[in-house]
Amino acid sequence: MNNWLLFVHILAAMVWLGGGLTLLIVGLRARASSRPEAIAEFAGAVPYVGLRVLMPSVVLLLVTGVWQVLASSAWKFTQLWVVIALVLFAIAFLIGAVYMSRVGIALARAGANAATNRASASAALNRWLAGYVVVLIVLLLAVWDMIFKPGL
Ligand code: HEM
Repeated sequence: MNNWLLFVHILAAMVWLGGGLTLLIVGLRARASSRPEAIAEFAGAVPYVGLRVLMPSVVLLLVTGVWQVLASSAWKFTQLWVVIALVLFAIAFLIGAVYMSRVGIALARAGANAATNRASASAALNRWLAGYVVVLIVLLLAVWDMIFKPGL
């Protein structure tokens, strides 16, 4: 059972990190594109991928992470590495759910007007890209924390 929880947990982390990284690369491509529709297309892809790929993996990651701590006598919620994991998860989740969704709405609006106002569409895209770089760095720190388990 514990191995299956770890299996799903690692898979969810791979999908969140890999999916986020792919989205970031697609966003960089849209920024470099000379086609005005490129930013609007990217703005449309973000919630599509977010709801179908990122959101389910975020939920699965937390559920299987907490479940593993509850299921194993080796792990406790008072251990430093588990506390760090929960804090990093909360930071990545809050940036993703609160900041990124607001920037995503602004990006969709600015992307729709990119033909007439490319500068504001690019600025919104830059804010989105910067936000997601932070999310990915937080997730990388979480992978480090999971493997090195500081405090153990
Ligand atoms: C924030 C995003 C997270 C990422 C990217 C992540 C990633 C990972 C990875 C890659 C492993 C495999 C490490 C190994 O087997 O050596 C792992 C294991 C584990 N994770 Fe997470 N995790 C995250 C959040 C959490 C949270 C919030 C919890 C619990 C509250 C948690 C609990 C665990 C446990 C108990 C293990 C098993 C450790 C072991 O068997 O050595 N994780 N995680």
